[in-house]
Amino acid sequence: MRLRIKSCCFPSRPEGVRRWAALALALALLSGCGGKRREDSSLRLGVALYSQDDTFISIMAKDLEQLVQEEESRIGQKITLLVSDSRHNQTTQMGQVDRFLARGCDVLCINMVDRTGAAVIVDKAEAEGTPVIFFNRQPVDEDIRRWEKSFYVGASAQESGALQGQLVLDAWQADPARWDRSGDGVLQYVMLEGEPGHQDSLLRTEYSIMAITNGGVEVERLARDTANWNRAQAAARMMQWIETFGDQIEVILSNNDDMALGAIDALSETGRPLEDWPMIVGIDATAPALEAVEAGQLYGTVLNDSRGQAQAILKLALALYNGEDPAGAVELEESHYVWLPYRQVTRENLSGFLETS
Ligand code: BGC
Repeated sequence: MRLRIKSCCFPSRPEGVRRWAALALALALLSGCGGKRREDSSLRLGVALYSQDDTFISIMAKDLEQLVQEEESRIGQKITLLVSDSRHNQTTQMGQVDRFLARGCDVLCINMVDRTGAAVIVDKAEAEGTPVIFFNRQPVDEDIRRWEKSFYVGASAQESGALQGQLVLDAWQADPARWDRSGDGVLQYVMLEGEPGHQDSLLRTEYSIMAITNGGVEVERLARDTANWNRAQAAARMMQWIETFGDQIEVILSNNDDMALGAIDALSETGRPLEDWPMIVGIDATAPALEAVEAGQLYGTVLNDSRGQAQAILKLALALYNGEDPAGAVELEESHYVWLPYRQVTRENLSGFLETS
């Protein structure tokens, strides 16, 4: 848009007017017309990640980088990606947001550390006229609606929980002799939960169990605990539970794949033969999880479409940058949300996912 002003207006005007117009443009650029002091025309995206060490988030960041490269060659124009690691610290992230704005980023893409703190970022972005796209860690609706140029790109936490629970229910009902080790008709389980307060931890935990009980299977929870999305923490929890409950555990539900892989690490450590393992299910469909499905260690997972989400972020950012209606670029719900669907993955349909992962 700034480029259009320069090229269409200046050449046709007389010298004096031209000088005034140039001065006015310079002042506008300096005085917070969008808060931007840049004169180059390339899209500059500021991306703040809550933690680069998180497996799923690092996959999403790679997807975004790759899509940006593809888009650059398609449109023949540079797109600058500034990526920061907030290292689990909301104060650090606020500083990074300030720097992105000071460096003239055109759109902010924010993966909140503390998803309850989005209001401050929306207000800062609005003051600079810089659209903001939150992703993966869902801010409260009230915060998202503070400004018309604030958006969320993600996948429904309820849906992922329900699909995971359905996987367990179907397997249990198809082969009770294999999974109901105690033969009491009750499904004894442990739950590995993600970070407390994260929408995916709360809702996956709730909706997975709801899908099983709504399907008519009685459940008994032996243990639950957070392992903060983390493989090593999950392995440590699982070791304790194996010691306490032994083979009473019939199903291990994990809020994500990394923690399911941690449970697999713990079970492998025991040397127990695979045919005696409990059913283990995760969510994300990361490459190592798909390998574990192939190896028969992980019963199933649910695809959290990182590429689809990265693609939606980029399309939305480009539309906002070009001053286009975002609803024309992505499927926008309630003017602020873009939802990507989840998909179940088991050994039966694994080949389709291995090709694309
Ligand atoms: C993913 C987890 C990830 C978390 C980070 C979730 O949607 O399933 O693997 O750790 O997001 O916020």
